[in-house]
Amino acid sequence: MTFKERVFSGVQPTGNLHLGNYLGAIARFAALQDNYDCIYCVVDLHAITVWQDPAELARATREVTAAFIACGIDPKKHIIFNQSQVAEHAELAWVFNCVARMGWLNRMTQFKEKAGKDRENASVGLFAYPNLMAADILVYRGTHVPVGEDQKQHLELSRDIAQKFNNDFSASIKAHGFGETFFPLPEPLIAGPATRVMSLRDGSKKMSKSEPSDYSRINLTDDADAIAQKIRKAKTDPEPLPSEEKGLEPRPEADNLVGIYAALAAVPKAQVLAEFGGAQFSTFKSALVDLAVVKLGPLGAEMKRLVHDPVYIDSVLADGASRAQTIAADTMKAVKDIVGFIRR
Ligand code: TYM
Repeated sequence: MTFKERVFSGVQPTGNLHLGNYLGAIARFAALQDNYDCIYCVVDLHAITVWQDPAELARATREVTAAFIACGIDPKKHIIFNQSQVAEHAELAWVFNCVARMGWLNRMTQFKEKAGKDRENASVGLFAYPNLMAADILVYRGTHVPVGEDQKQHLELSRDIAQKFNNDFSASIKAHGFGETFFPLPEPLIAGPATRVMSLRDGSKKMSKSEPSDYSRINLTDDADAIAQKIRKAKTDPEPLPSEEKGLEPRPEADNLVGIYAALAAVPKAQVLAEFGGAQFSTFKSALVDLAVVKLGPLGAEMKRLVHDPVYIDSVLADGASRAQTIAADTMKAVKDIVGFIRR
């Protein structure tokens, strides 16, 4: 069966959005809107798998929404909403809790990292998190999912869940006239030179919201001075930049800064090295500061302007949720028939 192509992706409203979220995901969301129907979700249900201060959760939900809009996603042509406004996500996630196997979830590296040594004290939601993620995508029968590299394993699990549902219920799917398979196997879109942006302090660690040092990341709301300071202080090595990509392999910090430059300039890394090969880091960092300020400055300013208009932000979310729910409700109706739930 062929499915209508549809893009879905989500971002958690936890802490500040950073350059990794932007280059790995949000900037690419905007780029897909000319060729696909897109649904972009602020995943507040995912956020509460670890404790969130309620006022901060609401603030961050509006901030992520503002980032989506500031990055150029058109909320009239596409859909922007927050997950908790569409109850079908949680409803389908329950069905998937009963499709996915414990063994599959036990292999998820993100749960191991987040739960750490105190596994017994992690929430059940944190363990079942990837099932909700599969439900997010599949409640819209999403076919393409732009994400950073760190979400690859979760996407593979979403495909396994879709496949197992299709297999387990294949007779019922056919009997109800849905053809051979009900869910598409969603494809991850992980592309570009910045699918895994690393910490500015340590090239072996991912840039992340939870890293204690603010110098490890560039936040989307950082002003020009903060951006400049963080890039100038970024860890590097004493060698000049290489002229070819192979020369970056043993140099994670250099590789990271070149990847960031390439992604911001929308050119391949090879082109950046053709220009800066042989240059000292001081020269390269100055050029990177200028580029980052030009690209990120207006974005941060627009985000700040939008968060001062919560009435507008909330109206975008409400309108998006109602359009999303129309699609999701249709899927749930079919899922209920397929599973054998009596409907009103
Ligand atoms: P989250 O909120 O942690 O991150 C949002 C997006 O940013 C990407 N990202 C990065 N990309 C490159 N370098 C980095 N250092 C970096 N850090 C984060 C993430 O890969 C992600 O694309 N589970 C998801 C949210 C989610 C979702 C979904 C995504 C929930 N349901 C359905 C896709 C489809 C998450 O925690 O992303």
